[in-house]
Amino acid sequence: MDKWWRNAVIYEVYPRSFADSDGDGEGDLAGVRAHLPYLRDLGVDAIWLTPFYPSPMADGGYDVADYRDVDPRFGTLDSFDEMLAQAHALGIRVIVDIVPNHSSSAHPWFVEALASPPGSPARDRYIFSDTTNDWRSVFGGPAWAQVPDGQHYLHLFDPGQPDFNWRNPQVRAEFESVLRFWLDRGVDGFRIDVAHGLIKAVGLPSLGPDDGTSSVVPYQDQDEVHEIYRDWRRILDSYPGDRIAVAEAWVSDPSRLSLYVVADELHQAFNFDFLQAPWDGPALRHTIDRCIAAADAVGAPTTWVLSNHDVRRQVTRLGSLDRARAAILLMLALPGSAYLYQGEELGLPEVLDLPPHARQDPVWKRSGGTELGRDGCRVPMPWSGDTPPFGFSPNGASWLPAPASWATLTAQAQAADPRSTLSLYRDAIRLRRAGNATGPLQWLDSAPEVLHFRRPGGLSCLVNLSGAPLPVPDGTGERVLASAPLVDGALAVDSAAWFID
Ligand code: GLC
Repeated sequence: MDKWWRNAVIYEVYPRSFADSDGDGEGDLAGVRAHLPYLRDLGVDAIWLTPFYPSPMADGGYDVADYRDVDPRFGTLDSFDEMLAQAHALGIRVIVDIVPNHSSSAHPWFVEALASPPGSPARDRYIFSDTTNDWRSVFGGPAWAQVPDGQHYLHLFDPGQPDFNWRNPQVRAEFESVLRFWLDRGVDGFRIDVAHGLIKAVGLPSLGPDDGTSSVVPYQDQDEVHEIYRDWRRILDSYPGDRIAVAEAWVSDPSRLSLYVVADELHQAFNFDFLQAPWDGPALRHTIDRCIAAADAVGAPTTWVLSNHDVRRQVTRLGSLDRARAAILLMLALPGSAYLYQGEELGLPEVLDLPPHARQDPVWKRSGGTELGRDGCRVPMPWSGDTPPFGFSPNGASWLPAPASWATLTAQAQAADPRSTLSLYRDAIRLRRAGNATGPLQWLDSAPEVLHFRRPGGLSCLVNLSGAPLPVPDGTGERVLASAPLVDGALAVDSAAWFID
């Protein structure tokens, strides 16, 4: 039998915004546990939890102060264990986030580094330097911060997220121990944050003027990073069950991405090319072909994703709910595994008009408010009821306000409606499993603005990206699902349907 992860549907839970059990306005692990039956009914194979570790929350928890504990706002190690046991009892695997590129500035190692002199072993666990280069923080501004004795430390993200020195053996040993800590607790794997960033080029060379000729960035996708993942794979394989790791690797092209998923490294790597592709038939087909070919070349599955906690929700990004509904039928019909982000199954749009005082993303803060940042895709889940925050918390508290217009989008409002987006996701996940999600994709003849392909199990998918209704071709088989009602046997503009022959 194929390994579970090769065609799994994995659901990203952003715990702070999923479900609040104790009324502090922030979601928590007990809230995740309480909603596991919802995820079972949705039909997902696994969940990925973004960081819930102790953190000053300079970057929503991606600034970890202790890799072996749970932040009190999210619960305790006991509440983690209870959530994990309950997930496993319901047949849902659990993947946790590991953040190895940087810690929080509140991590004891960084506190020790600051208290230690330049050149000391404590400083060598991070990247301290007497001089700086021209590297920029992903969140805006320089990537270096100065400490009182005059040295500077590297932070590719927020100043509260100092980068580790992965050439230091203590850093490597520490993360191997952290992996074992969570594997021993029973987790099914890890999502590796900034997996492409751990190794920086020797000498920390400046980028120099951007003349558009160089695609090699000295702090991204350095070949030596693969040594680390070979070590991690050996650890994962030493545990019973199929424990996995998925890379968040932003790299220049699919062939570079495939290097992360060779047989002795990681299992999956998010395919961001697909996420970033425009709503355009030829562009999507080209991206799909390139990504499948690159993964096939190393015997790995592709790992599709349309949204996550860092990008604009697809209803808004693609321009309409119709397109988002068609896009998910496209994605879930493709060979390989698929990641969903909480709330996309409800068709949630990006919230673009959050009040400035509510915004917390360092992108917003560091850009001086010129970039909205990522809070708009992190608004808490609307579960039930008519008024914000729609059952997110027991007492109406919510760290980001939900729009009143979400009353019709709650899980409760959609659960019993067969035409809802929630029902579309449930049906698609069930049919995908039943219709044999393994085996390659075969393109069928179509106009460039139409995507039409068939899978070996007999499932075919037709997507209409053209500007006119599309009559379903003869011999397409029995229609089993559609993102929009057909009119006179034709697929509406920006819609998709599945057929079984
Ligand atoms: C990843 C996370 C993102 C975070 C960044 C720094 O890209 O997905 O949310 O801000 O890493 O840890």
